Amino acid sequence: MAPMEAQVLIRVVPSYARGLPISPPPPRFELSAKPLFRSSPLRSTASRPAAASTEKPRASAIMEASGFDSEGREFKNAEEMWGEEIGKEGDVHKRKEWYRQGVGYWEGVEATADGVLGGYAHVNDADIKGSEAFLKMLLAERFPDGGRGRSLVALDCGSGIGRVTKNLLIRFFTEVDLLEPVSHFLEAARESLVPESGLAIENKATNFFCVPLQEFTPDVGRYDVIWIQWCIGHLADDDFVSFFMRAKAGLKPGGLFVLKENIARSGFVLDKEDRSITRSDTYFKELFHRCGLHIFKSKDQRGLPEELFAVKMYALTPDAPKRVHNTRAKAQPNRPGIIK
Ligand SMILES: C[S@@+](CC[C@H](N)C(=O)[O-])C[C@H]1O[C@@H](n2cnc3c(N)ncnc32)[C@H](O)[C@@H]1O
Repeated sequence: MAPMEAQVLIRVVPSYARGLPISPPPPRFELSAKPLFRSSPLRSTASRPAAASTEKPRASAIMEASGFDSEGREFKNAEEMWGEEIGKEGDVHKRKEWYRQGVGYWEGVEATADGVLGGYAHVNDADIKGSEAFLKMLLAERFPDGGRGRSLVALDCGSGIGRVTKNLLIRFFTEVDLLEPVSHFLEAARESLVPESGLAIENKATNFFCVPLQEFTPDVGRYDVIWIQWCIGHLADDDFVSFFMRAKAGLKPGGLFVLKENIARSGFVLDKEDRSITRSDTYFKELFHRCGLHIFKSKDQRGLPEELFAVKMYALTPDAPKRVHNTRAKAQPNRPGIIK
């Protein structure tokens, strides 16, 4: 395929992503755009999210919410969908197959920004700007000097070609480790992160882990920030929870997870092509609760094209929020006044 032709094809957004009828099936070339990155065929239920809910999800909320797959099939709840996709507990073969197909999808994608962003390389700037503002705010809140002058260490999970590290993390962290299960992406990251000679920047990409999240355990207490962007949808719920439970030990005291993800309006959207799911804000909150994580801050990503899923950033901490004691209010009620 000529390079020009390839470029044009990879940018095509299938008709179903624009909310048009699904049939006839999209031509072969349209499938080269990364489905995870597009909004659902069923826009009325799954595309733009409602404003993030502030309510605590009920324990069973996610089990009750219905969802869809990318072919328009409805599932009555997540349990039904996971039962089909990864089987019952102990069905090792089905689960293996889910992960094999997920990584297999990315093994067939070119190691470029357009490749990891499903033909949407042009959202890179808006994405990085949004992430930078969020990260600066977090560093300013966590450290009196905004983190300057400290040796900060980050982990970039599902790093792909190192786009987030190269454009953002390496400017704020003395060391960045990258984790990515697809070897040709990780190789591209390694090459692009070789320090340019003559630059006075001391920050560096240190470790390159070629493993999937569900098999990874970080070194204890190594990271100030564990950044997880556009990859957690590949993990089944139980692996999601056990990953975060293990990864908590990898944070330094006061360290944070940053999760940046596509958000479904309600329930979930299963992508049959790359074996990933897009979860709703409520779904995520229920999983955070199961992980024993608290939302320190969250923010919507602005400025992305309308046809894409909305995107949200969550900063998560294992530390319970400090209770604000209103001592005055506590001391006062029903106290008889002192008459002087
Ligand atoms: C949409 S790309 C995003 C890449 C990168 N985070 C970025 O924003 O540029 C999704 C990435 O998730 C990776 N991935 C797929 N399955 C994964 C898994 N089980 N664990 C970790 N990463 C996975 C893919 O190989 C791919 O690099």
